[in-house]
This record gives sequence, structure tokens and C-alpha cells, in this order.
Amino acid sequence: MKIIKVKDYAKMSEEACSIVVNKLHQLENPIFGLATGSTPEGLYECLIEEYKQKRASFKNATTFNLDEYVGLDKNDPNSYNHFMNEKLFNHVDISNEQTHLPNGAAEDLEKECSDYEALIREAGYIDLQILGIGTNGHIGFNEPGTSFSSRTQVIDLDESTRNVNARFFNSLDEVPTNAITMGIESIMESKEIVLLASGENKAEAIAHLIEGEVTEDFPASILQKHAHVTVIADEAALSKVKA
Ligand code: PGA
Repeated sequence: MKIIKVKDYAKMSEEACSIVVNKLHQLENPIFGLATGSTPEGLYECLIEEYKQKRASFKNATTFNLDEYVGLDKNDPNSYNHFMNEKLFNHVDISNEQTHLPNGAAEDLEKECSDYEALIREAGYIDLQILGIGTNGHIGFNEPGTSFSSRTQVIDLDESTRNVNARFFNSLDEVPTNAITMGIESIMESKEIVLLASGENKAEAIAHLIEGEVTEDFPASILQKHAHVTVIADEAALSKVKA
């Protein structure tokens, strides 16, 4: 696991941005795994700027997002589909057909999950997966206790996750109780992974990610077993790492 220590959120975003831009240049048809949440917003802003400055183009890229709430239509302002359109897709040269998120409003959710897996497989798997980390160690919405051999599935959101994410909704009651998430094994199939973290509130999670026991009780710990992971974290997020 490679650790890149940066000063702050802005530097974390720039560092991640340059890794993504390099992939856009290196690969003919890069496949990205993308994340939502507060952490990657700065990365997406930077990518939009790179596109505007004509230093990067997404016209040959394909994207797969990690997760989506169950029960929210893709146009719902709280859906991750809407988030991605607003924060990135609407501002760069990527067409709708090139971007993928699970459909949390699908009638047959099981089929939606297996279809999503098939799409990733048929595309040739993810070249670069961007991850955030939950304070409880989740990656995607794989909450503590999720099997390391899980594939894309519907999961129950932890109460702690619903509480943390309630800031985006009018009230806690509105936060969905379920989500579709790429599984741990699906994430581990990515050829390269970049995990981003900023701020003191992520310090314990980052310490466990880097130095803690590999256990299903802390899903992100499995990344210690992946051959090509880079953690880009700021000083505050790294403040509890001992070594
Ligand atoms: P955040 O979420 O980026 O909003 O902190 C990270 C996560 O829950 O994976």
C-alpha cells in the first residue's frame, strides 16, 4: 500500500486529479470506478478544470459508480446519479452511455445487481477505482460485517451511515435504509485503487486501514491485500497512524 501524505484537502484533490489525468492519457479506453460523498468533490472540480483547459478529455472513458440508494429515482436530487451529473458528468465530454450507476429504482433489484456486475465484466474490469472511506470502515456501502467475497448487492445501511449522510437530506427519516453497492470482491478486481481521505474525523479509520487487522468488521482493511493501492490522505487524516 503506497501512502501519499499531503497537506490538506486541496492538495489531496490535486494529487488524485493528476493520477486520473495520467490514466486518461495513458489508456486508450480507460475504465474508472467513481465514488460519491464529500471526499471526491474536489477531485471532480479539478477534473472539470483540466477538461476546460483542454488538458484532459473523457471522450474515450467509461465510468462505473460504486453505489446508489435504493428507492430514489435517478433524477431525485439526493440520488448519486444526480450527484455525479451535477459534480462531474454535465461539465465534461462524457456521454450518458459512457457513465453507469446502479439503478436504485429498478423493479428487480437482484437482476439490477447481476446486470451491473456483467456490465463491468464485459467492459474489461475497472482500471482505476476511486474510493472514499466511511468512519466505520465502509468502502462503497459495504458496511462492517459484509463478506469479503461479496459481489454487487443490496445492503442495509448502518444507522451510523444514515446519520452521517442525513446532512444531505431534510431529515433522517428521508435517508433511504438500503442501497445497491458494488461488493468487496468486485472492488478488489479493480486493477488499481486510489483511496482518498481528509480530516481528523477519518484519522481512526485511516489508522485501521493502514495498520489494523484485516477483518470483515472493518471492510476497508481488505485493501491491504490488493497489489496496487494508493492512499492519498492529508495530515489530519494520517494523524493517528503510528509508524
Ligand atoms: P464522505 O463519505 O466522502 O462524504 O466522507 C465517504 C464514504 O462514506 O465512503
